[in-house]
Amino acid sequence: MIAGAPVLWDIPTRVIHWMIVVCLPLSWWSAQEQRYDLHKWLGYTVLVLVIVRVLWGFIGSRHSRFSDFLVGPSAVWAYLRGRGAASVGHNPLGGWSVVLLLSLLALQSISGLFNTDDILFSGPFYYWASTELRDTMGVVHQWAFDGLLALVSLHVLAVCYHQFLRREKLVQAMVAGRADGRAGKLAPAPWWWAVLLAGAVALVLWWLIERAPGPVYLGF
Ligand code: HEM
Ligand code: HEM
Repeated sequence: MIAGAPVLWDIPTRVIHWMIVVCLPLSWWSAQEQRYDLHKWLGYTVLVLVIVRVLWGFIGSRHSRFSDFLVGPSAVWAYLRGRGAASVGHNPLGGWSVVLLLSLLALQSISGLFNTDDILFSGPFYYWASTELRDTMGVVHQWAFDGLLALVSLHVLAVCYHQFLRREKLVQAMVAGRADGRAGKLAPAPWWWAVLLAGAVALVLWWLIERAPGPVYLGF
């Protein structure tokens, strides 16, 4: 029965999710190893993915849209007390955690653009920023990562709770798009829209990076 049903999570939503899952630990590792040549590209990738996911939240398939899973405080409260209406996609609490995760990922990657290791590598917008902004972005880059560590841990714990204790097929749906008891209702938005969006976002980022000023050498 499920085989012909529309997907719950369309291809762009799934590809973005699993690419972020791969890029985030690699970003951490590359910073630890001071491989900023890699760190930079991983960070740009996460930034493009996050921006595309946010835009997809407005034009993507039904269950990937913010309007499908962002609900007011009373609905979240009802869910917490076990009195909420059953949701097909993200539950009311999960919906807001998606917003928080995406915001932290955006903060992390944007602050990196203004960051420096004070030795050999500076983000592309470092020389655009005032001293105050550079300092702030340095702090944001550290704090956002701590926030991400905490939130991702909670996220994985919550997924495990639903997956193993409540026996809901969350992971299967995030891999295959749908699972028993978890399917969409409408045909998905064309996946290639997301490819076009990613190309356009990457182009704008490249354009900004090309135009950003580099260090000024005083000819002593
Ligand atoms: C780097 C770590 C991770 C980050 C930043 C992350 C982030 C996210 C985000 C933003 C979403 C919302 C998806 C969307 O609507 O676009 C999501 C959903 C989801 N994630 Fe992750 N995730 C991470 C790791 C994992 C891991 C390791 C698993 C598997 C155990 C996982 C399983 C899921 C599942 C099953 C959903 C869908 C939840 C639902 O059905 O409501 N995530 N994640
Ligand atoms: C998902 C995106 C990113 C993640 C998870 C991430 C993570 C990290 C972590 C964990 C550190 C070490 C902690 C610290 O010293 O602040 C770090 C340092 C750094 N990152 Fe990122 N980063 C990301 C994106 C970027 C981007 C896009 C750039 C610039 C192109 C960048 C530039 C830097 C620099 C220059 C440092 C060294 C800071 C220092 O030595 O104090 N990061 N990053």
